[in-house]
Amino acid sequence: MYNTKKITEDIYWVGANDRRISLFEGVYDVPLGVSYNSYIILDEKTVLLDTVDKVVAHQFFENVEHVLNGRKLDYLVINHMEPDHCAELESIVTKYPDVKIVCNAKTQSMISQFFDFSISQDQFVIVKEGDTLETGKHKLMFVMAPMVHWPEVMVTYDTEDKILFSADAFGSFGAIDGNIFADEVDFEHRYMDEARRYYTNIVGKYGPQVQALLKKAAAIEINMICPLHGYVWRKDLNIFIDKYQKWSAYEPEIKSVLIAYTSVYGNTQNAAEILSGELAKLGVKDIKMYDASVTHPSYIVSDAFKYSHIVFATTTYNMGIFVNMENLLHDISAHNLQNRKIAIIENGSWAITAGNLITEIVSKWKNTEIIGNKITVKSSLKSTQREEIEALAKEIVKTIK
Ligand code: FEO
Repeated sequence: MYNTKKITEDIYWVGANDRRISLFEGVYDVPLGVSYNSYIILDEKTVLLDTVDKVVAHQFFENVEHVLNGRKLDYLVINHMEPDHCAELESIVTKYPDVKIVCNAKTQSMISQFFDFSISQDQFVIVKEGDTLETGKHKLMFVMAPMVHWPEVMVTYDTEDKILFSADAFGSFGAIDGNIFADEVDFEHRYMDEARRYYTNIVGKYGPQVQALLKKAAAIEINMICPLHGYVWRKDLNIFIDKYQKWSAYEPEIKSVLIAYTSVYGNTQNAAEILSGELAKLGVKDIKMYDASVTHPSYIVSDAFKYSHIVFATTTYNMGIFVNMENLLHDISAHNLQNRKIAIIENGSWAITAGNLITEIVSKWKNTEIIGNKITVKSSLKSTQREEIEALAKEIVKTIK
């Protein structure tokens, strides 16, 4: 049975939710599920904006058929070719053989990479930056957004209703639980962390490209943002746009300390716990700690974008950095994190190498500084070292204030 949602008088959400997905992109757990958003504009011409992932195809086609209500589909706009949005392209063309595919040249070449079926050249409407498509009352303008998240990405701006169909930008993990608009749910408490985790892990590497899109968006009036995942924004857009400004500029949201540790027998954790207590005594609020062997890196990457200061505490292992910490550090590096203050705690019972190896990795992060003296734990923290930890806490706090 169809499950559609009205966005405006003539625009409908025809997407679907997946709450059984075990790993999004084969990597990220999504405890709140995920939505694959697709939209239809019912104008003199009918327009479908993007399709969905194949796992929700059945629901999607029921939705599309219901909204079209016997009308033919005139246009399919492809904003993003990733299979979580374009998996049903071939099925759409099969079902609506007269549909025109509106996309850019990069998208057109990707279609032949992902699909084997042939589409005649005259079935394509190839668009470039600023091109428009009139569908009756609505006029759609296409704006290129390369690397937000793939090179072919574009966004579509409805100049009539001033709606931005924003592709992956302004999306979030989390299924749509009945309501469709972000202002109808407690987005800040229920979804903002998942929105950050989605942004930082999926698009976080491409901050400059997101900044370029935000610059283009600032030049147009936007009443509503319709992303490909998560809720539709029609109120207080600046709350989310401001977050995107910070995330894409690698600017921390809060001045506080994130501590990520790994610990084989609890001694590294002990040092990390003592440091966190000293920071708290000195007035640092909202300190966050993760055992990087327990928590998936996507959550720690997300908080690394949120916090101004990060402490890495880990063991030397196989003459290197303990494997889960090494993985985390490489993951954060791959997402281009910048502008952070870092402190290090290392542990080892012989030939301690972890601290220097962390320094090597972190020193490649732009505008990032290692602060205080590295704490070296030899097997377990000794009472004589408490002063060292207190001193490190003071150094950290100095740079917070
Ligand atoms: Fe939701 Fe880049 O795909």
